Amino acid sequence: MTITFIGHGYVGLVTAAVFADLGNTVYCVGRNPEKINNLKKGLTPFFEPGLEELVKKNLEQKRLIFTLDYQEAIPEADVVFICVGTPSLPSGEADLSAVFKASEEIAKNLKGYTVVACKSTVPVGTNRRVAKILEKGKKKDVKFDIASCPEFLKEGTALHDTQNPDRIVAGADSVKALDVLEELHKPINSIFLRTTIETAEMIKYGANTLLAAKISFANSMSFLCDIVGADIEQVMEGIGLDNRIGKQFLAAGVGYGGSCFPKDVKALVAMTKRYKTPGMLFEAVEEVNQIAHEHFFQKVKKYFHNDLKGKKITLWGLAFKPDTDDMRDAPSLPIIKSLLNEGAKVVAYDPKAVENAKKSLGEKYAIEYTPDAYSACAGTDALLIVTEWNEFKQADLEKVKKQLKKPVIFDGRNIYEAKKVKELGFEYYGTGK
Ligand SMILES: NC(=O)c1ccc[n+]([C@@H]2O[C@H](COP(=O)([O-])OP(=O)(O)OC[C@H]3O[C@@H](n4cnc5c(N)ncnc54)[C@H](O)[C@@H]3O)[C@@H](O)[C@H]2O)c1
Repeated sequence: MTITFIGHGYVGLVTAAVFADLGNTVYCVGRNPEKINNLKKGLTPFFEPGLEELVKKNLEQKRLIFTLDYQEAIPEADVVFICVGTPSLPSGEADLSAVFKASEEIAKNLKGYTVVACKSTVPVGTNRRVAKILEKGKKKDVKFDIASCPEFLKEGTALHDTQNPDRIVAGADSVKALDVLEELHKPINSIFLRTTIETAEMIKYGANTLLAAKISFANSMSFLCDIVGADIEQVMEGIGLDNRIGKQFLAAGVGYGGSCFPKDVKALVAMTKRYKTPGMLFEAVEEVNQIAHEHFFQKVKKYFHNDLKGKKITLWGLAFKPDTDDMRDAPSLPIIKSLLNEGAKVVAYDPKAVENAKKSLGEKYAIEYTPDAYSACAGTDALLIVTEWNEFKQADLEKVKKQLKKPVIFDGRNIYEAKKVKELGFEYYGTGK
């Protein structure tokens, strides 16, 4: 088939590369000439394990075509996937302007029968608004169907997730559109769930909010564990061993971040407000998340007798999670801001996210960055683990101890065993332990 992806972000570029690799002819449309030129050379605009290799391979095979031009990419397509960003507006609602702008461009260029499927996460009702834009902007005799095809990939494991999804959800009125989408996904061994458009839209928000709720649940439990002497990891293991609950997403820490959970929970809350249904459960998920990083910061502050002035603090990890350079809504950002606001100096190391961190923090929150984990600890007063990159798990803690002014670790991701670290002579503060 010939498929077109609008947007070459985490969703658009990853799925485009995977479908090209399955033998389809794939167009990927962007709007930034520099990024498109780089992509034509196989240079990806963000880090995702294995992605650059897959893009290069499919460029060489001429199955993957990057373009700025809708006129080139739309007319031949059997399926067009909308994969543009839907960030939060100040009200918490999703900003749908990129979805609607892309829809206008698609409409003008539709030729034969085309399925236009939205992978962007959008509130209920959006796909029907897309249909109206397509209807209004297309040439008279052109036929199309719309579908909601929400995406569930995770940054850091996006290729694997796209090649081996737990399920593919497709919502449409048209059986023909669903048949086309099922045929396209045939080489991917997964459950293909056919739903209505509204149901597919709701599944995505429900799934992300429930995952975020599991994290906020674990964090709420960890606040208590910190005080009553229980061990959050064992508590959650004991809970998660119940098959009805499951072990995943029950790790306490400094809170969730990234481009999806925070904005999608907020958008679901906004939907409950719009339709006047009780949204307090979803609101609490977000509130607890805000408290999680503040709780971690307060623990550090209390250790220094509420006086962080002149203290030098090391942060290991800036990205919102390991194996990505994505800094959107990363918990490291409020932690750094709180430390700087209290007069501390921050030295940070992250294997991939430094450039994006500089952009996110701006000049007002300038910090020092080091090229490796150990030099970030040179002469500092404490080490804070904020992102659980693998390289931190096996770090040479003897070396770390020699570097630090005082051997104290605040482990926001519980990557170390307290007993072992204490035996090495560290003061160790885990999360919920
Ligand atoms: N990142 C994830 O892990 C993930 C997972 C599942 C779903 N989603 C959802 O998928 C959507 C996209 O997320 P993302 O992380 O890939 O976003 P992103 O910010 O990484 O990428 C968005 C892309 O859209 C492009 N774009 C915007 N307007 C355009 C236009 N008019 N024409 C062409 N390109 C345009 C941007 O240039 C960018 O390349 C969002 O709704 C998000 O919630 C994201």
